[in-house]
Amino acid sequence: MAEDKIIVSYNGKSSECPVIIGTENEPGMDISNLRDDTGLVTLDFGYKNTGATKSAITFLDGEEGILRYRGYDIAELAEQSKFTEVAYLLLYGELPTKAQLEDFNDKLKAHSDVPAEVSAILKAMPKGTHPMAQLAAVTVALSGVYAKDAAKASEETIINILAKFPVLTAMVMRNTQGLDFIPNDKSLDYVSNFLHMAFGKTASTAVVDAMDKLLILHADHEQNCSTSAVRLVGSSNANIYASVTGGISALWGPLHGGANQAVLEQLEAIEKDGGDTSKFVAMAKDKASGFRLMGFGHRVYKNFDPRAKILKKSCDDVLADLGLTDKKLTIAMELEKAALHDDYFVSRKLYPNVDFYSGIIYNAIGFPTEMFTPLFALGRLPGWVAQWKEMKENKEPIGRPRQIYTGATLRPYSAIENR
Ligand code: CMC
Repeated sequence: MAEDKIIVSYNGKSSECPVIIGTENEPGMDISNLRDDTGLVTLDFGYKNTGATKSAITFLDGEEGILRYRGYDIAELAEQSKFTEVAYLLLYGELPTKAQLEDFNDKLKAHSDVPAEVSAILKAMPKGTHPMAQLAAVTVALSGVYAKDAAKASEETIINILAKFPVLTAMVMRNTQGLDFIPNDKSLDYVSNFLHMAFGKTASTAVVDAMDKLLILHADHEQNCSTSAVRLVGSSNANIYASVTGGISALWGPLHGGANQAVLEQLEAIEKDGGDTSKFVAMAKDKASGFRLMGFGHRVYKNFDPRAKILKKSCDDVLADLGLTDKKLTIAMELEKAALHDDYFVSRKLYPNVDFYSGIIYNAIGFPTEMFTPLFALGRLPGWVAQWKEMKENKEPIGRPRQIYTGATLRPYSAIENR
């Protein structure tokens, strides 16, 4: 039988660390008393092996390439569900009935208007401001208008941010392009309305379906960088708008959500350079070059990213539906093939991730490259909010890691003239 506790001994003191087993039999070691008992803290750069919480939202097995929201396989959800249905599932733990989903969608529509003073902020931002900075600015600005109960996981607060986010994201896109905002159309569903506001025209069923699928695939990914940021900011009792803004900032980086923009820029650069993928694979292998193949590798997936598998197929479907051919897709396929047969990538278990294909689809739909990461944010929002809600409901303490101090020891201050 497996042990139910681990004894850690150090310097004549010992601590009994309980073994916690998750519902998918993942064992963890609870070290919360370790420091009090033995004086030891744990050190784990990048939290590579540290569980920061217990969560019932998303299960991920990186070795097996499994991703499930509330127990439902991501492939089944992407194939059969709709984004707001998945958002409901993440937030409330169960798939909604027809009546529950209608009610949820109605509430999202009812709260979708963005106050004029918030949209005015976009117009005042410096020209050329990245859309992620614009999105962060207007999201935190909502706290100026909806301050009451914004730090509580009330239904109204949760609906409010989910309802306004697609409208804000579309406004950010229009503002970036120097175009007028398109009025919110409450006769349309969540995703169709977003596309209508972004492009100023009705999207085809194929495009709405592709967008729905993309948003579903991005909706949650357990304790990743941006979600951890949302939980950490929220743990100080900061309101939901401030917490989500923390997530937007964390997502922006090219090692996280910003990779989708970087992938497309890289594919364009390869195309411009003549399309020789082997040159770029060689560069990625050369550490001195500082170059990485964007869209390859993942902190947790060490076999394949199940989201990338679904998107690869979706990519073909969308391009066929839109009657497009894209040289970038051919380059992407060649890159993938080259990397999957190269010992450098194989030995490090570097496979295409979700961002490798998403950009090609966003590009085919007509989104400007700079908008790819805001689209990731739009998809990830239900996950951020569900994780924030769970943290609140579990009454988790403020997040505050320890450190191993490596700086100078105590030394006397010396007056400036003596230095
Ligand atoms: N190209 C070339 N080498 C790579 C790459 C890459 N894309 N990714 C990792 N490596 C190498 C890295 O140099 C290291 O080699 P060595 O062991 O010889 O020093 C080894 O593989 C392990 O990499 P790491 O950086 O220690 O791994 P990590 O878990 O800290 O980083 C990652 C994961 C996703 C940040 C990294 O793989 C990466 O930078 N990928 C490119 C950016 C990207 O596509 N990010 C999107 C992630 S998916 C969306 C999301 O959920 O955020």
